[in-house]
Amino acid sequence: MKIISNPVELKEYLKYKKESIGFVPTMGALHEGHISLIKKAKEENELVIVSIFLNPTQFLKGEDLDKYPKKDDADKHICKLSGVDVLFFPHSYDIYGDDEVSLSAPNVRGYVLEGTSRPSHFNGVLTVVMKLLNIVNPTRAYFGKKDAQQLNLISLMIKQLFMSTLIVPVDTVRENDGLALSSRNVYLSSSERKDALKISASLHSAGIMVSKNILDSKEIIKKMREVLSPLEIFYVEILNRDFEQISHVEIGNTVILVEAKAGTTRLLDNIWL
Ligand code: PAF
Repeated sequence: MKIISNPVELKEYLKYKKESIGFVPTMGALHEGHISLIKKAKEENELVIVSIFLNPTQFLKGEDLDKYPKKDDADKHICKLSGVDVLFFPHSYDIYGDDEVSLSAPNVRGYVLEGTSRPSHFNGVLTVVMKLLNIVNPTRAYFGKKDAQQLNLISLMIKQLFMSTLIVPVDTVRENDGLALSSRNVYLSSSERKDALKISASLHSAGIMVSKNILDSKEIIKKMREVLSPLEIFYVEILNRDFEQISHVEIGNTVILVEAKAGTTRLLDNIWL
């Protein structure tokens, strides 16, 4: 596995490559969720590139940038064992200069759900993903469905900026007890982890209601909020795949999303129906 930290060097290395490239951008602290993205990228491409870059611009003041888990050696090992061809491991100064050109998330879709309490978060996400895609110029890029709003906004960016990378959504990986994998799960104490299970349980209860043909969004959200209680809830929403609110679940076109806090940790989860 080749490790490159300089964007110009990586561009130069890739310049004459004719192979299809699968790209998995990450912020490190890799877990089974990331490994499933890498596996899918390996199945579908000749070359696989993973980036590890803890992107400062997507953290707001007071968020967990400084304590975000860092596992550089373990991450390199995981990438090597997973058959990654190139690990892109830039420093912040390799990616950002002064007086930056940056992207703005759309005024509506970037400021709902997670964007309500984290304004400017998605500006940082879109800016870094744009930079990374321009450096790697991949055939396909892989993103987890767990970060559904991020996935939606990146797909929108690709479409609206006429970019040619194909965005591939990958299913959420869960622990046996239902907890969605996240690098932030390490923040949870054992009692907070128990509380966090209410999040996947609320989505499970929604799935059961839908299987019984109860499709009314208000009714489902009410039940989910009961299951989530007493967690602090940021939102419970039922949206179509264009991220518009819908009054009834539309099978094949619905995402049910939750963000809630276990202890001091904000956790996201969703199901696609
Ligand atoms: O999902 C993430 O890990 C990050 O938001 C991403 C896409 C790597 C951009 O920093």
